[in-house]
Amino acid sequence: MRKKIVAGNWKMNKDYTEAEELLFGLKDRLIEKPQRDGVDVIVCPPFPFLDLAYDAATDEEGEEYLFYLGAQNCASTEDGAYTGEVSARMIASMGATHVIIGHSERRKYFKESSEQLFEKVNLALDNELVPIFCCGESLEEREKGIHFDVIRKQLEEVVFKLKESEFSNVIIAYEPVWAIGTGKTATTEQAEEMLAFIRGLIKDKYSKDIAEDSYLLYGGSCNDKNAAELFACPDVDGGLIGGAALDLEKFLKIIYAA
Ligand code: 13P
Repeated sequence: MRKKIVAGNWKMNKDYTEAEELLFGLKDRLIEKPQRDGVDVIVCPPFPFLDLAYDAATDEEGEEYLFYLGAQNCASTEDGAYTGEVSARMIASMGATHVIIGHSERRKYFKESSEQLFEKVNLALDNELVPIFCCGESLEEREKGIHFDVIRKQLEEVVFKLKESEFSNVIIAYEPVWAIGTGKTATTEQAEEMLAFIRGLIKDKYSKDIAEDSYLLYGGSCNDKNAAELFACPDVDGGLIGGAALDLEKFLKIIYAA
């Protein structure tokens, strides 16, 4: 039986004080009213707040995670003279557990290629971080009816190149680009259809067991109003939440809806 996962991607939002308020607010509220058993919460703040987030996410001993902690990106090289980059090893050493890789905003604005994403996924795995690998089609691609081909290609060029033992540590987030930050959520049918398609690809590529055990998330205008319906779909194992993760009350409603 798979768990549900509710992951918040803050993107480039909040300053230190606002981050502190949201992170410790989340901590207090989850202590007061924990999420349902079988629900994992992951918070992905910007790099400068990872240390703060680690303090909020863990108990006094820094061992048990009340919620998990992810970065939004990592470098595609191990270390060295790459001014401004942040390595997977640095992220892991801050106590982070996850890292988002291949978000459509990184692909679009920073021209990240599948080759780079493959390096990033490998570096994440080498450093025992769980990659949350994003895939998604544009509106134009959906209107042309090529969305399944686009997703297959994005997966084949990166995560399907992994060995079974590596792939089993990856979370996949399907985020249709037309639904991100637009308020235009995919219908439950569209989300379920694509995630069931992805699960089918995993079965063909690896095995039925791996497919059954894989975590597939939906992202794109998922909010406190539509989360319960989306999460009730058999192949939707949770959500990658953008805007609604910046508001404590909305994020909590999504967590409790899972
Ligand atoms: P929104 O929830 O703001 O649409 O963002 C989704 C997203 O891109 C999460 O990674």
